[in-house]
Amino acid sequence: MLSALHVLSAIVLAPTLDSFFMDPARFIAGVYAQGGVKIPIQRISKPQKKTPAHILSSNVSVANSHEFAYLASVQVGGQDFLALLDTGSSDLWVVTSDCTLQDCSGVPKYTPSSSLNLMADVPFNLNYLMGSVSGTVATETVTLGPFQISSQVLGLANGTSGLGLTGTGNSGILGLSFPLEAAIPDTAGMTLLDNVLSTFDEGSRFFAFKLGRDQISSSFTIGQVDTAFANDTSEFTFTPVDPASGTLSKNERYYDYWKIPIQKMTINGTAFELSPSRVAGAKSPIAVMDTGTTLVLGPSADVDRFYTSIGGTRKMDDMQGGQWQIRCDRAAAVGFVLGEGEGAREYGIDPMDLAWVEGGREGDWCTGGVQANDGVSSGDWLLGDTFLRNVYAIHQVATGSNPPRIGLMHTTNMTAALEEFTRERGPDPTPPAPILSAAPSAPHTLGTAAIWGISGASGYVFGLCLALLISYCVAKRSKK
Ligand SMILES: *[C@@H]1O[C@H](CO)[C@@H](O)[C@H](O)[C@H]1NC(C)=O
Ligand SMILES: *[C@@H]1O[C@H](CO)[C@@H](O)[C@H](O)[C@H]1NC(C)=O
Ligand SMILES: *[C@@H]1O[C@H](CO)[C@@H](O)[C@H](O)[C@H]1NC(C)=O
Ligand SMILES: *[C@@H]1O[C@H](CO)[C@@H](O)[C@H](O)[C@H]1NC(C)=O
Ligand SMILES: *[C@@H]1O[C@H](CO)[C@@H](O)[C@H](O)[C@H]1NC(C)=O
Repeated sequence: MLSALHVLSAIVLAPTLDSFFMDPARFIAGVYAQGGVKIPIQRISKPQKKTPAHILSSNVSVANSHEFAYLASVQVGGQDFLALLDTGSSDLWVVTSDCTLQDCSGVPKYTPSSSLNLMADVPFNLNYLMGSVSGTVATETVTLGPFQISSQVLGLANGTSGLGLTGTGNSGILGLSFPLEAAIPDTAGMTLLDNVLSTFDEGSRFFAFKLGRDQISSSFTIGQVDTAFANDTSEFTFTPVDPASGTLSKNERYYDYWKIPIQKMTINGTAFELSPSRVAGAKSPIAVMDTGTTLVLGPSADVDRFYTSIGGTRKMDDMQGGQWQIRCDRAAAVGFVLGEGEGAREYGIDPMDLAWVEGGREGDWCTGGVQANDGVSSGDWLLGDTFLRNVYAIHQVATGSNPPRIGLMHTTNMTAALEEFTRERGPDPTPPAPILSAAPSAPHTLGTAAIWGISGASGYVFGLCLALLISYCVAKRSKK
């Protein structure tokens, strides 16, 4: 009888936001939406703290050392919460007033309302790359923008660990990846994303993200692109999402993450080849798009060679986190070539995202926006915010016989970005390094960091944990 709970009644709330460019009359239960909606999101960042590498040897809370995240408002049982939008996981959850741990302190917490339906026998347990959450599965009335779902399945968390909700102020996470990766069983109900998208006609079953560099310039829309960044979906280059490995029968493909082929990188216009994929059957390395991860993460064999080729870089030793740093004035033009065949395109990243000062600065040295991690097992590369800020991205779910697709539009003008970088950071005195363009011919091996694998766990992480605090986090996780 669970199916009765799945009924979506998408009704419209008072359209108080100017940004609702749809006709409210269309949003009655069972009627497909024709227009799209814009859900306001904000980038939250804490004031810059000094990030000494010795943080490793102290007991400073990882999650409190650096946060910024892209958050949206959701209502659960009539109560307002901020949820982190995470394309690297698939569940919606909020903390409840039963959560009394330090990790979940200082954020609004859910208290039972009359519309709550607890599924007391369905536990909710989810491990992220860093941190975890546990509680019970329930259904409640959930509101996202103009959508109200009367019986939305979600996790009600009485415990979180390693997530440090206080720092960002989010009471939970809204996962936007595929149901295959959801911790909540699909027999309990559809994900919020699928419920919302089911109200749109097939061609509009997508959401689009633009991650901004400041608090206000981000955009998250459903069923329509934001005209501030694009007029039409024809301006995007689309690539089918790679199916989950092991589900290769043509008619029965399953999808786990928003992932597409990455052909190579470029450094100052020169091709930089990548190690062969570790993913079974993949013709080229696979890149997973993940708004919940701060950095770009890739195989150490490639990332080490990459920074050697950039020049003006140094690697901290393992005791100091093992992360790569780059001179804050290094004006490197780096691109990622994504997609397949004729649809492959180069997406350059702003040098500010490589010499990433927000991630921490030590004198002349900035944290690198790309870091090594051999434990990303759902793909070879994880493209987090330092990449995603340079594109406008459409995520379109499967319809009929069409696979899900990712549409990308490059938003960074590299010429302008390099000029602006040099203006801000000063001239770059470091001579170019020889570019080690040829990749090793064997796939990189699963390193000791296999516990970071995001298959089975989800991709939400404040990437600095990976970049700076790997040993700390490993220690933390292996305790579990
Ligand atoms: C960290 O905490 C543990 C347990 O409280 C303590 O034994 C250890 O000395 C602390 N380490 C540092 C560097 O403060
Ligand atoms: C959450 O609730 C469950 C079931 O009542 C209980 O076993 C568990 O200890 C609780 N967790 C926390 C952190 O309070
Ligand atoms: C949308 O189209 C108008 C008219 O052609 C153009 O002026 C505007 O720059 C376009 N906007 C974007 C974001 O491409
Ligand atoms: C990119 O920026 C440069 C320098 O500011 C400018 O001359 C050029 O027209 C821009 N290109 C595009 C496509 O906007
Ligand atoms: C990039 O290439 C240009 C022209 O070939 C060269 O002048 C510049 O030094 C190079 N920059 C880097 C960082 O390699």
